[in-house]
Amino acid sequence: MYQLCPSILSADFNRLGEQIKALERAGVEWLHIDVMDGDFVPSISFGMPVIRSIRRETGLFFDVHLMVTAPERYIQDFVKCGADSITVHAEACDDLELAIDLIKDAGVKAGVSIKPATPVNDISHLLDEVDLVLVMTVQPGFGGQKYLDECTEKIQELRELIDREELDVDIQVDGGINDETLETVIHAGANLIVAGSYVFRDDLEDNAKRIRRKIDRLSQDVDWRGNK
Ligand code: DX5
Ligand code: ZN
Repeated sequence: MYQLCPSILSADFNRLGEQIKALERAGVEWLHIDVMDGDFVPSISFGMPVIRSIRRETGLFFDVHLMVTAPERYIQDFVKCGADSITVHAEACDDLELAIDLIKDAGVKAGVSIKPATPVNDISHLLDEVDLVLVMTVQPGFGGQKYLDECTEKIQELRELIDREELDVDIQVDGGINDETLETVIHAGANLIVAGSYVFRDDLEDNAKRIRRKIDRLSQDVDWRGNK
């Protein structure tokens, strides 16, 4: 299953509801929600009240990416606000396994994310436990950065591991996705594609439609187990 996951970090917050409706019209099913605490990453984005208020207006799948130190403190809160999946950073948790258990116990999908410098090896023992692995392809913290080429290998490595073990784990990529890097990440084995600035410019609905078509087309080139 492939999904385009538009990141609302690049939305016009004055028109957030309207922009989410445009994404729905384009057939988008996942919404990527970047929460930043000013500690794990330098910037601060938004939190529970924003998520709660958009939850009332849309049935989209809420994919919440917590760029937050000690995220286990907030799992219950984000589930109450309407998260459908919660992804925590391996680097942000004292006890990563406990954080993943808390997410699963709360009844939503669990994801683990790694920053560009964190090796796949640091989380490979958890592949049995998680629903998705988020490979950051920029330094977390800001939209609109350039894709870091050295991350492509990590996507490939994960795809090999997941397929070899026949695991049901999605590979999500986040940061610097555009026409060119979209092809790179899909060919490397990613299937959940986060995109912020690539979607939220000019005509959002047209962009999302076009990018979804492109993902469908590119996915025909790859032949990993999950795509058959
Ligand atoms: C960065 C965030 C991303 C960001 C991606 O820390 O996790 O989700 O919105 O933005 P683009 O697609 O513009 O690189
Ligand atoms: Zn993100």
